[in-house]
Amino acid sequence: MEKKINRILYGGDYNPNQWSREIWQEDMRIFRDAHINSATINVFSWAKLQPSEETYDFSELDEIVEMLSRENYDIVLATSTGAVPAWMAKKYPEVERTDYEGRHHKFGQRHNACPNSPVFQKYSAALAGKLAERYGSNPHIKCWHINNEYGGECYCENCEKAFRIWLRKKYGTLEAVNQAWNTEFWGHTFYDWEEIVVPNDLSEGLWDGRTAFAGISIDYKRFNSDSMLENYKLERDAIRRYDREAVITTNLMGTYKGLDYFKWAKEMDVISWDNYPAYDTQPGFTAMQHDLMRGLKDAPFMLMEQTPSQQNWQKYNSLKRPGQMRAQSYQTIAHGADTIQFFQLRRSVGACEKFHGAVISHAGTENTRVFREVQQLGSELENLGDTLLGSRIQAEVGIVFDWDNYWALEYTSGPSVDLTYVNQIYTYYKYFYDRNIPVSMIPFDADFRKYKLIVAPVLYMVKEGMAEALEQFVKEGGILVITYMSGIVNQSDNVYTGGYPGPLRKMAGVWVEEIDALAPEQSNSVAFEDGTTAGCNLVCDLMHLEGAKSLGKYAEDFYAGMPAVTENSYGNGMVYYIGTCLEEKGKDKLFADICKKAQVKELAGEGSDLEITCRETESHRFYFALNFGKKERKLPKLFRGQKDLLTGSVLTENAVLRKFGVCIVQIEK
Ligand code: GLA
Ligand code: ZN
Repeated sequence: MEKKINRILYGGDYNPNQWSREIWQEDMRIFRDAHINSATINVFSWAKLQPSEETYDFSELDEIVEMLSRENYDIVLATSTGAVPAWMAKKYPEVERTDYEGRHHKFGQRHNACPNSPVFQKYSAALAGKLAERYGSNPHIKCWHINNEYGGECYCENCEKAFRIWLRKKYGTLEAVNQAWNTEFWGHTFYDWEEIVVPNDLSEGLWDGRTAFAGISIDYKRFNSDSMLENYKLERDAIRRYDREAVITTNLMGTYKGLDYFKWAKEMDVISWDNYPAYDTQPGFTAMQHDLMRGLKDAPFMLMEQTPSQQNWQKYNSLKRPGQMRAQSYQTIAHGADTIQFFQLRRSVGACEKFHGAVISHAGTENTRVFREVQQLGSELENLGDTLLGSRIQAEVGIVFDWDNYWALEYTSGPSVDLTYVNQIYTYYKYFYDRNIPVSMIPFDADFRKYKLIVAPVLYMVKEGMAEALEQFVKEGGILVITYMSGIVNQSDNVYTGGYPGPLRKMAGVWVEEIDALAPEQSNSVAFEDGTTAGCNLVCDLMHLEGAKSLGKYAEDFYAGMPAVTENSYGNGMVYYIGTCLEEKGKDKLFADICKKAQVKELAGEGSDLEITCRETESHRFYFALNFGKKERKLPKLFRGQKDLLTGSVLTENAVLRKFGVCIVQIEK
């Protein structure tokens, strides 16, 4: 395979079209100094490549590709379809989107083409095909980057028509649609497909982004995600006609809500994503996003973008502190990345991203703190060579992440507006992160048997096959943790009648009769059987035991004495039901017991304040230790006497990691 990537790609978005030719030469010199070996080009050049409907002009891109090829770069070639040209918007207003408020947009911004515009579909695929025809045989082009950060939604007439077709395909008959959406409620029965309109602010929109018929809105989310995925596939297939080797991807955005990334992953050769933590983002939250991105294909991924120093679109764009970018880069690799790419290589002079960090700042020289840090990292990654490439992460714990649930939970009116999906998932992820217990973020249809412990927080929507698969997992000895707001609706957002948690009730051995919502100033507490008491908040399930054993009861309010947390033996396994959002102390206590029962282990054995991960090949384990804490920390025993791959020195008994310190050791299996 000529196009196999056999080094850690190090580089990022490069837009030399904004600069004169002399600067290009200067860039090449400076990047060489930083050990940069890759550039992502052509991300927003559609207007230049196609100045009118009939004409294409690749002359400038030819020069850029030639220059980078001469320098032996591994090129990530984007298709430029993330921003439509102005002439196209003027001639074909349909390529612009209609927003949730029903306003049709004029030309401007980016990431805003209507996915169901036949004009957009035709010309985006045509451009991708032309690029691949022209550059596909260049061995330096190792990766195709389609569009850019797909996202957003459109509510135009073309989308409305396409939605009806999508519905016909999914449901077959209008009766099935009416039933799925429970349209008898408020007398919304449809007698003709043409009566169905897009669920936006002008139709079913309620307050807070909620809508009157969550069933319609969830289907619209699925439809929108599928529509954009079709756009992706059109371009991908156009590229594949000319380039059979290079991997094809598009840059995703972590826990971004709008697209069902597990579905997208099936169409992508490799996952790539853009990581933009804010100054106050917890390292554990970033780790979860990396794990989710790795989980999409259960494989190494690309870090397509991060800023070397500073953001521009956050509220407070703090500088990354000395060493922070390096530590974050290794954290990314520690969770499964095989590339480190920046946005961007040289800072723009105009428009809204001129304050966005870059390898080369406005000063235009290599004499900057940021450059020196980029250079140091570049040299270290170059030394690592291909040692880590392709290595995998093994986890005994799986946390279920599901976009249908994400949408459904956040569309519900009641019981609490504070019940947000990603935050809920994170509160459970964090337990494992804090203890260096590796976690895989898994889809609802994963092979559960690979795990000892599965946590499926707020599994509000139980889709077809899901309960059976979980039941099978437990029967065979698996340990399952489920929580409040679970087993409530089916995939059409209609309630499983007969008592919550519906299809999970039997295996959980509990019946949830009512759900109380607690306002931020309210709380309750749970008294555990062993005497521990822990606060709880957000929601409280009022439940009855149906075979399960109570592990802790509510201490206050009219439901004091009712079970809040339960355990049920089922088959050879066990199901835990957590009926309320436990504060950390309660969660820690409970999960300590659960992990013991499931026999899942912490990576470093004796516990550690460092972040520790492990990537494996067939013959070796690579342990990473990272310090995101404020203070110096001692390395766990596991690392002592081993050689640090980054410095080459042997780690002694007293070896410590400073704030933002990193070390990697390689241990034979
Ligand atoms: C996104 C985009 C880039 C750039 C950066 C800025 O990730 O893909 O084009 O706008 O944000 O942070
Ligand atoms: Zn549209």
